[in-house]
Amino acid sequence: ADFAKEKLPLSGLKALVSAGPTHEAIDPVRFIGNHSSGKMGFAIAQQLKELGADVTLVSGPTALPHPQQMTVIPVTSAAEMLEACEKYFDDASIIVMSAAVADYTPIEVAFQKIKKKENEFSIALKKTTDILATLGNKKKKEQLLIGFALETNNELENAKDKLVRKNLDFIVLNSMQDQGAGFATDTNKVTIINRSGESSVFPLKSKEDVAKDICSLILQHIPSKI
Ligand code: CTP
Ligand code: CA
Repeated sequence: ADFAKEKLPLSGLKALVSAGPTHEAIDPVRFIGNHSSGKMGFAIAQQLKELGADVTLVSGPTALPHPQQMTVIPVTSAAEMLEACEKYFDDASIIVMSAAVADYTPIEVAFQKIKKKENEFSIALKKTTDILATLGNKKKKEQLLIGFALETNNELENAKDKLVRKNLDFIVLNSMQDQGAGFATDTNKVTIINRSGESSVFPLKSKEDVAKDICSLILQHIPSKI
C-alpha cells in the first residue's frame, strides 16, 4: 500500500480542509447555526486523500461519518475552528476552506438556560474572526489557498471581491439560485474564479464530481507552487 501511495500525484503533500457549519452557543441548550451539511468539504477531503495527500479535516457539527485514513478534528464554534485551522495551516500545501462559518457569535453565553419573559428578546452579537482571511494574510507563495463564496445576488462581483480581499488562489462560487445547489443537497452548481478574474462555469453535478473538478484545478496548479 505504501508503495502505491508513492506514485499518487499529491503524495508527500499536506492538505487542510474545513467543512460543515459552526454552532455558536447562546446558553447551555441553544445555539446559532446554519444549514450546512458538510458534504461538500467531506467530498473534497476524500478526493484529496485519494490523490495521495495527507489530509486534515476540520469539521463543524455534521451528521456525516468520519472519513477513514485522514485526521479529523471535530470543532463546534467559529473560534474553535479558527484555532484548529491555524494549528495545521503552516504545514499545509493545499488549503480548502469550505466551512459555513458563523459571521456573528453571542457576546455572552448564559450559564443557565435563558427563561422566556418579555414578548421581545434580543441577543447581542459580535463578529467572528474571518478564518479564511486570517490564513490568506499569512499565506506563503508555495501554499495554494481556496475559499468558497455563497451569494444570492451580484454573485460574480461579490465572489471576486472575496478572492482579492482574502488573498486566495481560487474561489468557488456556490450559486443558491439553482435548484439542487447548495445546502443539504447531494448536488452543487459552482463557478470557479481565479486570480486573474477568469471564471469557469460548471454544470449541476454531484458534490463528489464538484470535488473532483476542484481537485483537477489543484493538480494543475500544484507544480507551480512546489
Ligand atoms: N469564512 C471563514 N471565516 C468566517 C467567515 C467565512 O473562513 N468567519 C470563509 C468561508 O469558509 C468561505 C469564505 O470565507 O470559504 C466565504 O464565506 P462567505 O460566508 O461566503 O463570505 P463572508 O466573507 O463571510 O461574507 P458574507 O457572509 O457577508 O457574504
Ligand atoms: Ca459569511
